[in-house]
Amino acid sequence: MFPERFSTLPEYAFPRLRALLDAHAPGGEAVHMTIGEPRHPFPGWVGDIIAETAGEFGRYPANDGTPGLLRAICDWVKRRYGVALAPETDVMALNGTREGLYNAMMALCPESKNGKWPVVLLPNPFYQVYMVAALSVGAEPVLLPAKRENGHLPDFSAAPAELLGQVTVAYLCSPSNPQGAVAAREDWAHLIGLAELYDFKIFADECYCEIYRDTPPPGALEVASEMGADPERVVAFHSLSKRSNLPGLRSGFVAGGPETIARMKQLRAYAGSPLPMPLQHAAERLWDDEAHVTENRRLYQEKYALADEILGAVPGYEPPEAGFFLWLPVEDGEAAALELWKKTGVRVLPGAYLGREVEGMNPGKHYIRAAMVAPKDEMAQGLTRLRDCLYA
Ligand SMILES: Cc1ncc(COP(=O)(O)O)c(C=O)c1O
Repeated sequence: MFPERFSTLPEYAFPRLRALLDAHAPGGEAVHMTIGEPRHPFPGWVGDIIAETAGEFGRYPANDGTPGLLRAICDWVKRRYGVALAPETDVMALNGTREGLYNAMMALCPESKNGKWPVVLLPNPFYQVYMVAALSVGAEPVLLPAKRENGHLPDFSAAPAELLGQVTVAYLCSPSNPQGAVAAREDWAHLIGLAELYDFKIFADECYCEIYRDTPPPGALEVASEMGADPERVVAFHSLSKRSNLPGLRSGFVAGGPETIARMKQLRAYAGSPLPMPLQHAAERLWDDEAHVTENRRLYQEKYALADEILGAVPGYEPPEAGFFLWLPVEDGEAAALELWKKTGVRVLPGAYLGREVEGMNPGKHYIRAAMVAPKDEMAQGLTRLRDCLYA
């Protein structure tokens, strides 16, 4: 006996990719550009802090975050966005943002809205946890295509008023995975305005916010605060995975209004998986330190320049504004990924695996996603082979 609620979930993107490619030998030395796992170095002192505080593995961790970590997070939010948050009430430490993006739905999505079932808005394509979070609470996921003509962001104004009346949560990822699109101040302001009008929450997934070309992407908390919006409106998610090249540390945070955070803390007390204490100590130092973040961004800026140089003449190439993915137009993403692997050994992800077909259209179908995480030389080799194979 198994639940039906997940019966329509397709296989996750990476097993699908293995099924597509692994029966075929690579046509050259393999270059992996599929997984968005950062590969720049993280600060060496992280290991020292963990070693110095290893004795605390013998204690149950602070559920919501140590006071020092919560203070460091609030200081960072103030530096980055100019928004003053209270460490005791407005933030909670997460074991990586993926669990937070999921558990926030458990804690915050009401069972009904205006007498109807809840609706959750997602961009299409999207980071996969959004869909499973909506399904887990029995909400109806409604996918809004993030099309090229709308700057690869979902067009919330296309949602009819009747539907908006049922919306409990809207996810927006900026800078976005997979397209590297950035929501401008006006985009956030428009969505926050709709959320105020129709009384829903925004889950702002901003884990790529420190990886950009030259202008820091505006944040949802910043725009909400400038607008004087209800502090419970925006729930923002941030991570050390990309900012500090520590996806294995599993450390992030959620910020929002006091009631939002209190509800998330309550759920965490029952069913949460808090970050071990030595890792919380390391995270505190990481949020306090900007030098390693600046250096990390510099390395990505070199990679943007390299991608622009190699792919600049490819028809339809759109230089990503931020993040570390290239979202490249092709006739058919699956066919292109297979051809590229078989002919050159370069491994990329078909865009369709990150989206869903709605009304006969999957907005990722005509794209492939390539991650710019490998060392520069390897990345240059991969992108050159990709260009010569797919765009010659
Ligand atoms: C858009 C997006 N959101 C959230 C996450 C989760 O990151 P983490 O759980 O490592 O903080 C990722 C990871 O790849 C991502 O791409």
